[in-house]
Amino acid sequence: MRMLKNKYSDFFLLLLLCFFLFPTSGVLSQDDEAEYEALIESGKKYYQVKCLLCHGEKGDGNGPVGIIRRAEKNGRVLEIAPRDLTMAVFRFRTTPTGCLPDDKDILDIISNGVPRSFMPSHKEIPQEESEAIKEYIKTFSFRWEEEDPCDPIVANKPEWVNSARSIDKGRKIYKKMKCGECHGYTGKGDGPKSNELKDDWGKQILPFNFATGDLKRGSSAENVYITFTTGLDGTGMPSYEDSLNEEDRWHLVSYTPKLMEK
Ligand code: HEC
Ligand code: HEC
Repeated sequence: MRMLKNKYSDFFLLLLLCFFLFPTSGVLSQDDEAEYEALIESGKKYYQVKCLLCHGEKGDGNGPVGIIRRAEKNGRVLEIAPRDLTMAVFRFRTTPTGCLPDDKDILDIISNGVPRSFMPSHKEIPQEESEAIKEYIKTFSFRWEEEDPCDPIVANKPEWVNSARSIDKGRKIYKKMKCGECHGYTGKGDGPKSNELKDDWGKQILPFNFATGDLKRGSSAENVYITFTTGLDGTGMPSYEDSLNEEDRWHLVSYTPKLMEK
């Protein structure tokens, strides 16, 4: 009997402790849940107006617009599919390869769009609307429930980037790392492997032709550095975080504008 009483008093003590530690936790979480559901509901509405056309009702990329074809100057035809968001494999993250993007990455994609593909920029959308859309697109994949996003990579541009010496080093690294096998030896997207590449969805993907201008992530030195460090998951474009040190990645950044000269 004493044992039982002790057990109960322990239980009440614990309950009391919980009450002091999290005084309104029960009430708050219900409020939180209602708030979250309202956010998802409004995100869904905005998504249906602005994104469904391409990304589809279920986020699988099968919207009414479908695959878009665009001829490049060199005559090759690019096929661009709106992203299937149900796999939650993202290209333009600031987080390491294999990770989910962080919230800012998604907001940036929504705001900037993706140059050279048909993903439009949505700079005009108010902040709450993009926040709601961001949370809504997370409901398309279970990865968002199971994984936490990783810490973003920081790009601290050294002063010597774009110096003649650094450009020259970048040229050698481009050769040594065999970037040309995909991107072509002069960066025209016509390397020996360029016709065999497939993305994670099994569709053909062409390596970037540097002569075509804008980079999808944006062409600032920091953006290019982040691309070399994080890789473009799902495309075959690898991350060089482990195979090149930070200095060498910045030399490649110096060389990139040279490849873009037509
Ligand atoms: C006109 C078609 C179109 C519309 C409208 C559109 N997208 Fe896209 N979206 C695309 C295409 C095409 C891609 C693939 C771009 C690429 O990687 O080349 C893409 C890619 C993405 C990606 C993946 C980026 C990454 O890092 O891999 C996200 C996220 C995304 N879109 C979200 C949205 C949201 C949210 C909206 C609505 C606010 C939207 N899109 C509206 C066509 C569209
Ligand atoms: C296995 C093939 C492959 C290799 C090796 C490769 N890439 Fe890529 N790279 C790609 C593909 C495919 C894309 C296009 C992705 C897309 O359009 O979304 C790409 C895109 C890029 C982009 C454009 C990013 C943007 O924002 O649009 C740059 C810059 C780039 N690669 C540089 C390099 C450099 C430098 C190396 C060597 C250190 C390299 N790549 C190695 C396949 C490769």
